[in-house]
Amino acid sequence: MAAPRPPRFDAAAEEVARTAAAAPDWESLATSARGCVACPELAATRQHVVVGDVPGSGRPRVLVVGEAPGATEDETGRPFVGKSGALLDQLLGEAGLDRREVAVVNIVKCRPPGNRTPKAPEVARCSGWLRRQLELLDPPVVVALGLSSAKWFLGPRTVLARAREEGPVTWEGRELFVTYHPSAAIRFGPNGAPRAALATDLRRVAQAVGEAS
Ligand code: URA
Ligand code: SF4
Repeated sequence: MAAPRPPRFDAAAEEVARTAAAAPDWESLATSARGCVACPELAATRQHVVVGDVPGSGRPRVLVVGEAPGATEDETGRPFVGKSGALLDQLLGEAGLDRREVAVVNIVKCRPPGNRTPKAPEVARCSGWLRRQLELLDPPVVVALGLSSAKWFLGPRTVLARAREEGPVTWEGRELFVTYHPSAAIRFGPNGAPRAALATDLRRVAQAVGEAS
């Protein structure tokens, strides 16, 4: 007997996409996303939906896209405010980019229990929010941090080191950089390759942002 076919579409993902597409601005998107229960497990265990940070102007030159909130982000409702966030802020600063001028979101807006990798249906469901965030913010430069984020943009077969080495690509009219997640930089230590690569890449991003503005 043939293996059961995966569902052709996911009603919850469709509903998120429809709701997100109808949001006229960032604030209304944020309000809708905060009430999202499309992923039952995440909705039951989260403290906050971490919608994302936008700079005051609302028109960032760069959007950083991480994976999913961790414990600190879940507690505070803000992206990249834990250990990974501290390193991100530091390396952005060393590259000449102020975190306050950078928009920061995640692929998945709710914390997966125990920081497990988001599951495919969760990524699919949360994609509607991210798609609309990209439209509303319209950043010329996008930075994908880590494999989950890289895969969202470039497809499930993406190999992080290779995508990174190939350099930025044009993605839907934007310049997309793929680099290591700060958590990898922390895991391999201050003298490890991921940290040096992330620092180098953020400098390239800063340069691209300067050229795009
Ligand atoms: N890691 C992520 O990918 N995103 C966050 O917001 C925090 C840690
Ligand atoms: Fe909704 Fe995204 Fe949270 Fe899932 S992860 S419940 S799609 S906001």
